[in-house]
Amino acid sequence: MKNTETAPAEEKMGIFSNCRTGKFYYDVSCGLNASPKYLSSMYFYDAVGDKLFQDLMNCEEYYPTNCELEIFSEKTAEICNAIIGEGDAFDLIELGAGDATKSTYLLKYLLENNADFSYLPIDISSNVISYLNITLPVTLPGLQITGLNGEYFDMLTKASAISNKRKVVMFLGSNVGNMPVDEAAQFCADVRSHLSPGDMLLIGVDLKKNPATVLAAYNDKEGITRRFNLNLLERINRELNADFNIDKFEHYPTYDPETGACKSYLVSLIEQDVNINGMETIHFEKDEYIFMEISQKFTVQQINDMATKASFKPVDHFFDSKHWFTDAIWVAE
Ligand code: AVJ
Repeated sequence: MKNTETAPAEEKMGIFSNCRTGKFYYDVSCGLNASPKYLSSMYFYDAVGDKLFQDLMNCEEYYPTNCELEIFSEKTAEICNAIIGEGDAFDLIELGAGDATKSTYLLKYLLENNADFSYLPIDISSNVISYLNITLPVTLPGLQITGLNGEYFDMLTKASAISNKRKVVMFLGSNVGNMPVDEAAQFCADVRSHLSPGDMLLIGVDLKKNPATVLAAYNDKEGITRRFNLNLLERINRELNADFNIDKFEHYPTYDPETGACKSYLVSLIEQDVNINGMETIHFEKDEYIFMEISQKFTVQQINDMATKASFKPVDHFFDSKHWFTDAIWVAE
């Protein structure tokens, strides 16, 4: 494996006038110059990726969303009462809100029961945040909402700065699984460091289950997951003027039942060079892969241990009827 460019990506960021595009280029360049190559799954979510993820959530094999929807629709009152606690005012901060379908169950119940709260959804997709800011006040009259577009901790810091109330953080959809176990544990500790004792975390986590069920969810027959992964290469083409030929990359999903790691890769079908903006050439050997995403699956014990290690007390679990997914409530100690 060899790369023809040696200059560090930092020097080249400047050519993308927009600072966000500069950061995107920097991350892409670092990942594709690394060995083995990787891309960050947070970049899946541009307008096309958001749409593909919507399609994925509606496809037969992708179970996590349906499980969590079942929990939120069947156990709305129990979850809300846990959040309301003694009834003091709070800010409901959601990390990675997406289309907020799940949270809408809670928001509706909280409004109907006159809970004193504001909703602060955070998302990496600017598309998602403008959608929420416009639609939620219409579908949920009386909702106080401030959408924040950016990465989790930048926005959590911002949310903390505008909140002087008790905080309830929601981190749903098993987004925590997008990190390897050690990083996830560190992430929870970092969330805790933005909170005060008594604040709460509602965290949705996908559980270990029959390996065939897990693998099928990341290898759907319609090929939506495949397109979801390949869209990141197309996004690099669109936004960074690259020339990936997506027909020459193959989606390879894996699940290891021992570790609970579900990982996906894009494998180069031929030896090839990819150019980014006329500045940098990335060489691929035949069969060389790009690591795209991890969707870690956990046991209940692992989840409780992760809470304790991050100075939270795990106080409750809400499961779907199949016990495939849990929404856990942790209280900051
Ligand atoms: C949104 C991160 C929870 O990992 O299951 C779905 C994203 N990737 N299919 C997941 C995803 C492939 C999803 N999360």
